Amino acid sequence: MLEGLVLGTIFATIILFLVLFLAWRFRAVLIFFWHEKILVSFVNFLSGMSKEERILSWVKEHAMAGNPQSVLDAIDYYCYNTEWAMNVGDIKGVIMDRIVEEAKPRVLLELGTYCGYSAIRMARLLPPGARLFTIEFNESFASIASQMIQLAGLQDKISILKGSTQEIIPQLKKKHEISTVDLVFLDHWKDRYLPDTQLLLESGLLRKGSVLLADNVICPGAPEFLQFVRGHPRFQCTHYPATVEYLRMRDALEKAVFLG
Ligand SMILES: C[S@@+](CC[C@H](N)C(=O)[O-])C[C@H]1O[C@@H](n2cnc3c(N)ncnc32)[C@H](O)[C@@H]1O
Repeated sequence: MLEGLVLGTIFATIILFLVLFLAWRFRAVLIFFWHEKILVSFVNFLSGMSKEERILSWVKEHAMAGNPQSVLDAIDYYCYNTEWAMNVGDIKGVIMDRIVEEAKPRVLLELGTYCGYSAIRMARLLPPGARLFTIEFNESFASIASQMIQLAGLQDKISILKGSTQEIIPQLKKKHEISTVDLVFLDHWKDRYLPDTQLLLESGLLRKGSVLLADNVICPGAPEFLQFVRGHPRFQCTHYPATVEYLRMRDALEKAVFLG
C-alpha cells in the first residue's frame, strides 16, 4: 500500500517535471499560440475588428498620407507596443533595404502581401518606372494592403495580385506581361517556398542575376528550401542572421542569386 503511494508520488512528480520542462522548452510557441489564437480572437470579439483592421486604423490616425516611411513607422510602433503582427519588421527591413538598393530591381515580385508593410518598404526604394507585384490569397488582407499602399502614395508602383502563388506564378508571363523578375521576396507560408521556387524556374521567370530573398528561414524555418538553393549549382547563397519581427527570437533572411 505504502509502496504504491510512494511509486505513485514519484511517477506524478516525474510527469509534472516533464510538463514543466516541455512548457519551458516550447515557451515561445505557447506564448505565440496564446497570443495569436486566444487573446487576438477575444480582442477581435470585443472590438468588432480584426487585428489587421486595428493596425490600419492606427496607421490612418498616426501616419502622414503620401509618406511611406511614416506608414512603416506607424506599423512598427503599433506592433512593438500594442499587438504583434507578421510584417517583416524594421530589423530585417533594414537588411532588405540594403539588398533592394544593391539589386536595383526594375521588376519585383513578392509572395505574401499581408498588410502591405514589406511591399511599401521595397517600393519606396524603387526608381520611377520600376514595378512591384505582390501576391496574396486572403481577400481581407489584400483589401487592408491596398488601403495601406494608397495611404503611402505608392499605388502607381505596386500591384496586388489576388490569388494563390501556385495559381498566379504560371500566369505572370502571359497575363501580366512579365518576362523575368529581378528580385523575388518569399514571405508566404513556408511549405510553399520550395515548390514556388521550382515554379519560378519552370516558368522561365528567373534570369542570370535574379535575386531570391526569403524571410523566416530559421523561425518558423524553411529547411527544404534552404537545402535546395544551397545545394543547387546555379544558386549562390548568403545568410543574413537577424531576429523575428518585433521579438528577440533568432531568425534570418536567405539571399539566393540565380547564376543563369
Ligand atoms: C508573413 S505574411 C507576409 C508579410 C509581408 N510580406 C510583410 O512583411 O509585410 C504571409 C502572407 O502570405 C499569405 N499567403 C500564404 N501562402 C500564400 C499563397 N500560397 N499564396 C498567396 N498568399 C499566401 C498569407 O495570407 C499572409 O498574408
